[in-house]
Amino acid sequence: MGKNPPEIREKGAEKDEENYLESVLASLSDGVLTVNESLHITTVNQAMEELSHLPAAKMLGEPFGVAFPDQRKVEDLLLQAAREGKTFFLTDHPLKTPQGRLLLTGVTISPLTNREGETLGAVMDVRDMSRLKGLEESERISDHLDVVATMTAGMAHEIKNPLGGIKGAAQLLLEELNSTDLKEYPRIIIREVERVNAILEVLLGLSAPRAPRQEPVNIHRILESILLLERQTPQGKKISFQVQYDPSLPEVIGDEEQMTQLILNLVRNGVEAMTEGGTLILSTRTAADLPLARRDRTGQAQRMILVEISDTGGGIPPELMDKIFTPYFTTKPRGTGLGLALANQIVRAHRGKLEVQSFSRKGTTVRVYLPASSRGK
Ligand SMILES: Nc1ncnc2c1ncn2[C@@H]1O[C@H](COP(=O)(O)OP(=O)(O)O)[C@@H](O)[C@H]1O
Ligand SMILES: [Mg+2]
Repeated sequence: MGKNPPEIREKGAEKDEENYLESVLASLSDGVLTVNESLHITTVNQAMEELSHLPAAKMLGEPFGVAFPDQRKVEDLLLQAAREGKTFFLTDHPLKTPQGRLLLTGVTISPLTNREGETLGAVMDVRDMSRLKGLEESERISDHLDVVATMTAGMAHEIKNPLGGIKGAAQLLLEELNSTDLKEYPRIIIREVERVNAILEVLLGLSAPRAPRQEPVNIHRILESILLLERQTPQGKKISFQVQYDPSLPEVIGDEEQMTQLILNLVRNGVEAMTEGGTLILSTRTAADLPLARRDRTGQAQRMILVEISDTGGGIPPELMDKIFTPYFTTKPRGTGLGLALANQIVRAHRGKLEVQSFSRKGTTVRVYLPASSRGK
């Protein structure tokens, strides 16, 4: 029987198919695992080995709980999928590995059947969202901000109260004084109090950030209102503003107030960097180079838009590049060092990305990627 040519060919084809499926599984970035009806593991791919930090040999034939302990819910769903043929999706699901590492994942659980439609068990597909979000680099900054937050939130409030008193007294003094020469002093007090107050506002924003609203926002409108403001501010130096807008840009999903704060900070930095004058260019486009790097909450590829703020200022020296996001880091005599820390926090809260590229003496380009609305174009 073994010499029967058709059968040999068929066996060869089967082997090919097996190899082919194996390499498909190995190429997937999602972890894939199958279980039989008694929840014993029957297949794992490489990505699943990496996710669970266990070699396939330690998982195959073992109960599901070996790879992922304390997952009652997932176990229940695997059983239901196998027995009732149902499919389940879990978003932002916390999955604990045997080493106790917590992963934020998107999980799909579906029934596993053979060609004849007989039940073999269930398939679990796990997508590591924490990795896809690609926000590890800003995680470090966020940790730093947590410390800053606890220290300063209370302090900022305490300082705001006496400041109110100082400003009030200075205003009264200003009204009472007759001598024009002397009026300059309460004016200075008021101006400086307002400055400290502005710093405290930023600090409070940093230490108790509010979750961003999720509304469609027209970025061009924000850019225009910021430009209007900047054009009116006397610079004492020649700065020209240019815009390059993508007219088909979709709206962004987010918080209009926070986005205004974000872009205003970046525009201000650009203007401040051009001490001798120069050109500030604001441009927008859909980010063709990014869409697949981000997933939305349902695991779908998230379309992103890009806002670019370019200046022809002095640039950032390479050795300072990794410091500029640190709260309080500033190279300006009157700077707060909080602008970029805040900008980063806002972008992060919007599940976006912030990139800074700078060339010494040539200028700086800041790129902000934000999630686009899926409606429309
Ligand atoms: N567009 C830019 N060009 C040159 N340097 C910049 C630019 N943006 C930021 N920086 C550098 O990063 C530092 C931190 O910026 P930021 O957090 O906004 O604080 P601040 O503007 O108050 O100094 C600045 O002091 C400056 O040295
Ligand atoms: Mg700034």
